[in-house]
Amino acid sequence: MTARVAVLISGNGSNLQAILDAIRMQVLGAEVVVVISNRKRAYGLERATKAGVPTRYHGLKPYLDAGKTREDYDADLAAIVGEYDPEWIVLAGWMHILSNAFLKRYPYAVVNLHPALPGKFPGAHAIQEAYEAFQAGLIDHTGIMVHLVPDEKVDAGPVIATTEVPIYWSDTLAMLENRMHQNEHKLLVQALQRLFEGDEDE
Ligand code: GRF
Repeated sequence: MTARVAVLISGNGSNLQAILDAIRMQVLGAEVVVVISNRKRAYGLERATKAGVPTRYHGLKPYLDAGKTREDYDADLAAIVGEYDPEWIVLAGWMHILSNAFLKRYPYAVVNLHPALPGKFPGAHAIQEAYEAFQAGLIDHTGIMVHLVPDEKVDAGPVIATTEVPIYWSDTLAMLENRMHQNEHKLLVQALQRLFEGDEDE
């Protein structure tokens, strides 16, 4: 079975690349049917194009400039996604919070990757916050989770997979970021394998 997947990105797209590579190497039974970015110059769009995947840009600013709402933006985003008829929508570094105008159209089909363990460090600065918490002696490790997005809560929802990531005293923030990204790439692919294959082979 080949799962039809839409991937939403905002930037570099290294997690998108991990998905594309896993598909190419046939370790993930999926097809990326579209990559959508809220940033026009997101490098992930180039990665998609190189892999022969259609891309769309959907920016928020024109909506805000025209006095439209986030819900308007999200409803149109849902319509764009709908054109490609995906079964799953993967948020791989998508830096907007989706409102119900989007989520109600795709119940239990939206998957998010977050660089922290469940309940820890929600929001856009999770890795830096974990690094600082470690320096302050509050935690001795961090981690990553992949979860479903059932509602508007930020970086929360039914957990599909987690992995712990160690932090060392010798780490710079850049070293921790690098270790986190390496682990994200692996965990995201594993979580999607589990999700797409379900319990079929067990
Ligand atoms: C990742 O750390 C993801 O978890 C986060 O944004 C980053 C995106 O990286 N929320 P990339 O665009 O996939 O390289």
